[in-house]
Amino acid sequence: MPEKMIEVLKIGKEFTNNFKSLEVLKDISFSVNRGSFTSIVGMSGCGKTTLLKIICGISNPYSGQILINGEAALKAGKNHYFGIVFQEPTLLPWRNVYNNIELPLELNSCPRTKFKTDDLIRLVGLKGFEDVMPHELSAGMKARVAIARALIFHPSILLMDEAFNNLDEITRGNLNLELLRIWKEIKTTVLFVTHNISEAIFLSDRIIVLTPRPGTVRKVIDVDLPRPRDKQTRRLPEFIEIVENARELLS
Ligand SMILES: Nc1ncnc2c1ncn2[C@@H]1O[C@H](COP(=O)(O)OP(=O)(O)OP(=O)(O)O)[C@@H](O)[C@H]1O
Ligand SMILES: [Mg+2]
Repeated sequence: MPEKMIEVLKIGKEFTNNFKSLEVLKDISFSVNRGSFTSIVGMSGCGKTTLLKIICGISNPYSGQILINGEAALKAGKNHYFGIVFQEPTLLPWRNVYNNIELPLELNSCPRTKFKTDDLIRLVGLKGFEDVMPHELSAGMKARVAIARALIFHPSILLMDEAFNNLDEITRGNLNLELLRIWKEIKTTVLFVTHNISEAIFLSDRIIVLTPRPGTVRKVIDVDLPRPRDKQTRRLPEFIEIVENARELLS
């Protein structure tokens, strides 16, 4: 039996603004196996980002429970399991690639397991670009820096929120392949949010399809496509069939 790394148990979330409440997530339950790649897909506004923030402890209060490694996760504050990549790479413009990747080391004084920065730079394919400033980087290279920065503390869980949204299709496809290579090399558990169904299926072992707001789990799809996956995977009839079925669930 695969080991459960994250258990999301009956999560509900309401925001209250100006005395009006907005139900964003309702009765969300699913689990994520250790070392697996799981994607969350759903329409804009269905609560995907909110769910990721709840899982890593930066959005509360909420109802329900998050278990990490079978233990109740912290309800307040970030805990040490996570590396996070957001949609915007948010690099500091006055720091070069190397120093942007090292930023979390300066912001976090607790002793933690670390990757060597040079190893991370090699891992994300930026060797030779250590001294380059953010304005000299392409969008794809910025995404690579953001991934390396998220990995600096060797997180056991990597959360990615629409991290490839700003990229053209070819760069995005290449970074999908790179991400699978990185995932295989560091053996972390990945939870990946995307609007792009075929990207989710290409990358994942499991897809959590959410309904429009309030987000509930419409379906959990286990993707049994063989690994390693490559450009040919997208041409397989099984791949095309899963993509079409998942699209219908969202339309
Ligand atoms: N801090 C907040 N206060 C009030 N409402 C919020 C807050 N954060 C998110 N919301 C609302 O919760 C809903 C879900 O937002 P969320 O960002 O989680 O959606 P999403 O699925 O990530 O959307 P997208 O795909 O566009 O990124 C939206 O209606 C949003 O307006
Ligand atoms: Mg979002």
